[in-house]
Amino acid sequence: MEMVCRRTWVDGGQGSQVDLAMVCYIGVGKKEEVQLFYYFIESSQNPEKDPFIFHICGGPGASGLLVMLVDTGPLILSADNLTLTLNPDSWTKVANMLFVDMLAGNGFSYSETEEGWRNSDTVLVAEANEFIRKFMIDHPKFLSNPLYMSGISYSGIVIPKITLELYEGNERGEQPILNLQGYILSSPLMDRFMTFNSKFETAYRMTLISDYIYKLGIHNCNANYVDTNLANGVCAKSLQSYEECTSHINMNNILEAYCDQSNPNLDCEEACNKAVNKWANREVAQQALNVRQGTIEKGKWQVLNTTWRYNQGMNDTIYYSYDIFSSFPHHKKLRTKNCRALIFNGDHDLSFPYVGVEGWIASIDFKVEAPWKPYYVQDQVGGYEIKYSLNNYTLAYATVKIRP
Ligand SMILES: *[C@@H]1O[C@H](CO)[C@@H](O)[C@H](O)[C@H]1NC(C)=O
Ligand SMILES: *[C@@H]1O[C@H](CO)[C@@H](O)[C@H](O)[C@H]1NC(C)=O
Ligand SMILES: *[C@@H]1O[C@H](CO)[C@@H](O)[C@H](O)[C@H]1NC(C)=O
Ligand SMILES: *[C@@H]1O[C@H](CO)[C@@H](O)[C@H](O)[C@H]1NC(C)=O
Repeated sequence: MEMVCRRTWVDGGQGSQVDLAMVCYIGVGKKEEVQLFYYFIESSQNPEKDPFIFHICGGPGASGLLVMLVDTGPLILSADNLTLTLNPDSWTKVANMLFVDMLAGNGFSYSETEEGWRNSDTVLVAEANEFIRKFMIDHPKFLSNPLYMSGISYSGIVIPKITLELYEGNERGEQPILNLQGYILSSPLMDRFMTFNSKFETAYRMTLISDYIYKLGIHNCNANYVDTNLANGVCAKSLQSYEECTSHINMNNILEAYCDQSNPNLDCEEACNKAVNKWANREVAQQALNVRQGTIEKGKWQVLNTTWRYNQGMNDTIYYSYDIFSSFPHHKKLRTKNCRALIFNGDHDLSFPYVGVEGWIASIDFKVEAPWKPYYVQDQVGGYEIKYSLNNYTLAYATVKIRP
């Protein structure tokens, strides 16, 4: 198989190529039948010393290109004319960033066997572990950089397990030994019960439901808004009030306009995803990225594989098994490692709200190292942070204050 790794980028407007990212495939599985596509950008500060961050998107099934073009990555894609500008707030200013299309069927990743297309949380953990060690074998100059595993949203359910298995692999002497330092979770799904159950409480704190609805809900549903007994009519009624109050709220940021297929002109997730799809489906872009001929059906590339996407209470599909229910046991085991964790939430996120994360932390006997206090960004409160520790494990938890 050709192994040409290309340093490249292409501007959507002019079609000119620049040297920005290294893009390539790494094969995983017994016969390397699963070819995982990645984007790697060196830190613009000090690539020899700066942290090395393996970072995946949510969904599951959201491509690394989403981070590259509309999130914390180095570029900003204009939804109007598909031109690219540099992102002044990119994480690549302080870290080496590796964005991966995790699993065949996500972004430009694909499989050469039938078996390789069948995905799950467990497959994701195994392939991520194999991927990162292989990447380091190919790029040993980054072996000494402090390594962090990082993910957004849905990835919160898998990143702790990936991190734990990497520590355990190191302990077993798997090669190469990684300089693993910890993990980072942004607005994570942590537990398929606790995360979703916290939405009711969050809706109350955000004044989306009234005192009356809230108190009645606690009483009628016994503070369980997920595994509801449908026979319990009074609870169903409370949940109906909650649904009515929140069904036209933008769950990712309740201050933003609500958007769906019927109002696609708003600057919302739909519009961003469409722009990325348009950008990546053009031949000039796929050539610049060195995408292998015939692996992507013409015009069919999607930034999010919607057949995998998880919603509350969803069952497994033929494409993806949601087989890790909770990340708690993995966090708990990580507390015995030499490990730093950073978890943060947008304070107006109702998809995977901060209330659920706080609930998890409160359930563990941590020592508070630095109490809850504001932190400042350009003289304004940027959010709040608290630090915990246990032996050699430290957890920094922060909220990010959403600005108008
Ligand atoms: C593309 O659109 C952005 C606004 O999204 C604008 O700032 C920029 O000037 C436009 N570039 C070109 C080449 O038209
Ligand atoms: C989504 O993933 C499945 C395999 O799980 C694959 O068959 C399908 O082609 C993928 N869809 C897209 C749009 O890439
Ligand atoms: C999941 O499967 C169960 C049992 O087959 C079914 O009762 C439930 O409605 C399904 N849930 C969804 C969201 O499809
Ligand atoms: C904490 O880390 C130090 C230095 O790596 C090590 O010597 C010590 O044994 C560790 N303590 C625990 C409880 O793991």
